[in-house]
Amino acid sequence: MDYSFSMFLEERKNSGYKVIKRSINPVYRKLLSNKKRYLHLFGGAGSGKSVFAAQKMIIRLMTEEKHRILLIRKVARTIRHSQFSLLKALIFMGELGEKFKINEADLRITSLINGNEFISAGLDDREKLKSIFGITSIWVEEATELEYKDFSQLDLRLRGRSKNYKQIVLTYNPVNAHHWLNTKHFKDEFKFRTTFKDNKYIDEQYISVLKNLKEQDEEYYNIYALGEWGVLKNVIYRPFAVVNIFPAEYDEVIYGLDFGYNNQTALMEVNIKDKIFYLNELIYECGLTNSDLISRLKDLNIKRGSYIYCDSAEANRIEELKRAGFNVLQADKSVKDGIDYLKTCKIISNPDNTGINKEVLSYCYKQDKDGKLFDEPVKFNDHAMDAIRYAIYTHFKKRKEPKIRILQ
Ligand SMILES: Nc1ncnc2c1ncn2[C@@H]1O[C@H](COP(=O)(O)OP(=O)(O)OP(=O)(O)O)[C@@H](O)[C@H]1O
Ligand SMILES: [Mg+2]
Repeated sequence: MDYSFSMFLEERKNSGYKVIKRSINPVYRKLLSNKKRYLHLFGGAGSGKSVFAAQKMIIRLMTEEKHRILLIRKVARTIRHSQFSLLKALIFMGELGEKFKINEADLRITSLINGNEFISAGLDDREKLKSIFGITSIWVEEATELEYKDFSQLDLRLRGRSKNYKQIVLTYNPVNAHHWLNTKHFKDEFKFRTTFKDNKYIDEQYISVLKNLKEQDEEYYNIYALGEWGVLKNVIYRPFAVVNIFPAEYDEVIYGLDFGYNNQTALMEVNIKDKIFYLNELIYECGLTNSDLISRLKDLNIKRGSYIYCDSAEANRIEELKRAGFNVLQADKSVKDGIDYLKTCKIISNPDNTGINKEVLSYCYKQDKDGKLFDEPVKFNDHAMDAIRYAIYTHFKKRKEPKIRILQ
């Protein structure tokens, strides 16, 4: 999704700052003063949850004293392209750029006015988490990624005296009604549900994607368009095994690429060893143009000869990548055969692959409201799944088993 934000915090002539309410989605405005310890912003996709969480955090950081706000996700690496980039976009487009120092390496943002700061940590980074003191509030993005024990640990870190109210803001989609975020209840919590209808800035194209879910799958529609807790049925793959350590060498390495702009561009590395597929999620991000993508491919040092299997509907983008010297090939997009093939493969993921690990849990066959089941998947949150299938199926479909080639 494209960011275009206006100023939401203006410096007063005499002193202090004034919140420009019209830049904040109306339904959220009353939450600026909500002081509950646990503030849940949950609901459908594109409802403005993350943007409001970021706005509230910046406003508090600029207008209250002695803040150290922690940005949390399950995996540290994913903070850069979610909370951190959103905060930066709001700061720069909101003309607050000169009031902050941004430390890209550390994912830290410091106010030059009052010394308050945003710091970042993933739950995968236990040592860093342990070394962080004096937290005054927390924003957990994609909170359903967290297990309850992760959350309790975090909760414990937000203790002690502080000048202003302490709050944990949790942003998430209600994907699984059995999740602790739905079943557990806390003292001093406020749960606020929103849908795309509450976001006056949402674009028409995204609205039609969400409305179209109704034609595809009732449960998906309930979760992502209506923002209701659901339980996804007809999940296609068993969750991939997740391991921390991959082999040091492989027989072969191939890539799958699904182009996106409003949606995620997904570049997946498929490492093959003894007929087992080890996945690395190299890119999983919205808003990448083709030239952004080309420079990312160069930065990733992808060998010019490596096979990159892409979405064959995007002939122009494929041609541009070829001209930049990459060995891109059109993927075979036979969905049913591809899925059936992948179901026979041994596929392994790692904890850093948040896009893959999330999509695989909600990648479902369509089922209409009369209960009729289709053998094609719901077209939503499927970019990593597509990219993996493009690579594995196209590369191996004509062979009985994965071809093993020793890399130079
Ligand atoms: N106050 C705002 N000003 C300008 N644009 C906004 C604002 N709030 C939301 N938007 C637009 O709406 C889009 C969706 O908002 P946001 O990413 O916050 O939704 P979300 O509820 O977090 O979605 P998801 O459930 O998919 O994470 C943003 O990318 C942005 O383009
Ligand atoms: Mg969000």
